[in-house]
Amino acid sequence: MINVPKGTKDVLPQDSYKWQFVENTARKTARLFNAQEIRTPTFEHTEVFLRGVGETTDIVNKEMYTFNDKGGRSITLKPEGTAGVARAFIENGMSSMTLPSKLFYITQCFRYERPQAGRLREFHQFGIEFLGSKSAGIDAEVIILAKTFLDNLGIKNLTLYINNIGCKECRQKYANALRDYFAKYEDGLCELCKSRLEKNPMRVLDCKNSDCKEINKNAPEILDYLCDDCSNHFKKVKEYLDVNGVEYKVDPRIVRGLDYYTKTVFEFVSENIGAQGTVCGGGRYDGLIGQLGGNDVPGIGFATGIERLLMVMENSGVEVKNDNEVTVYLAPMGEMEAKKCFELCNVLRQNGYVADTDYMGKSIKAQFKYADKINAKYVAVIGSSEIENNSVKFKRMSDGVETLVDFNKILEFLKGEGL
Ligand code: HAM
Repeated sequence: MINVPKGTKDVLPQDSYKWQFVENTARKTARLFNAQEIRTPTFEHTEVFLRGVGETTDIVNKEMYTFNDKGGRSITLKPEGTAGVARAFIENGMSSMTLPSKLFYITQCFRYERPQAGRLREFHQFGIEFLGSKSAGIDAEVIILAKTFLDNLGIKNLTLYINNIGCKECRQKYANALRDYFAKYEDGLCELCKSRLEKNPMRVLDCKNSDCKEINKNAPEILDYLCDDCSNHFKKVKEYLDVNGVEYKVDPRIVRGLDYYTKTVFEFVSENIGAQGTVCGGGRYDGLIGQLGGNDVPGIGFATGIERLLMVMENSGVEVKNDNEVTVYLAPMGEMEAKKCFELCNVLRQNGYVADTDYMGKSIKAQFKYADKINAKYVAVIGSSEIENNSVKFKRMSDGVETLVDFNKILEFLKGEGL
């Protein structure tokens, strides 16, 4: 038997309706905020992520699916959505269209990580990217969009953590303070962090190595190094959240695992799905578009992992209704009647009703059982006498009421039933 590759999963029909619920809720919520869908390719030139996500990040260092294609180009399967959206925004001249550009996507992502609960090698993100505005109001709007989405899914008990990691200027001062601090503990840091110290010491704060984590505990905090502009921005974001009654905790330790962030960063964290508790993460990235060769256009967004959302929903008892019901199930008594069922099914489908019949030669008892399993609203058994009389009894499954209906009046009957 050939198995799925490690860190990937099949989504089977008994679960796919839950995915549809999450995706439909994502689309509806994005529209409430006037966001429109963008679809970018599954793979990009590797450079998009080297320059976008950042060369000192774990994603770029260890986790990317990178290969040379047959033309010798270095290609990477997208590890996240933002860099590709930024590339598309520049390439399609979107900065000269109406701003802000309010975009959303639902996409698969690929990271070569060690698989565990909530951490896969292929996973799916619902993401938002709002480009063009520097306003603190839009930061709060993006955070509230994420919260509205999580609320609409029925997920409770998440904690929203926010931080401000500054602009280029305050980050420079902060990086120096971190270098001074880490210099005292350099021997204790992992090899990767040692190499990060020079280029980007903030990455050390995000390291998952237990020794590095211990050293990080007493490291200087970014909030003490913010310039006036960044401090004011943070204050305003908090005011906007307060005005809307959004609860949050300021966590100066959030740095996020990607290099493009500036100023506002945030995460929604669940306590009940184990180590991979961050279900949603995002922030502002005012330098990204410029870094990838575009104009100086600011942006802010987030992404949430669908697999993690489904885990939280399951663990906190959120029930998703499977509304994939069948309007009519036509049960043939034998081979002769199967043709009539086949014909009627197709008439029903052409008129917008979900219809099904038997192709397995099941007994009538087994067909009723099956009809129940597929949530059939009506079942009609067709035997030789039904064919002779040109009519059939429709059994309403919710209350067992039976109605005799002429074959050529089935559509009228269903309309009369309010369908
Ligand atoms: P991220 O924090 O790397 O941010 O990922 C966002 C979310 O994707 C995580 O909170 C998690 O739910 C999910 N996720 C990440 N890695 C995995 C994995 N290996 N298995 C399962 N789920 C995973 C970003 O990707 C940014 N692009 C978010 C963003 C958009 N920031 C601004 N705009």
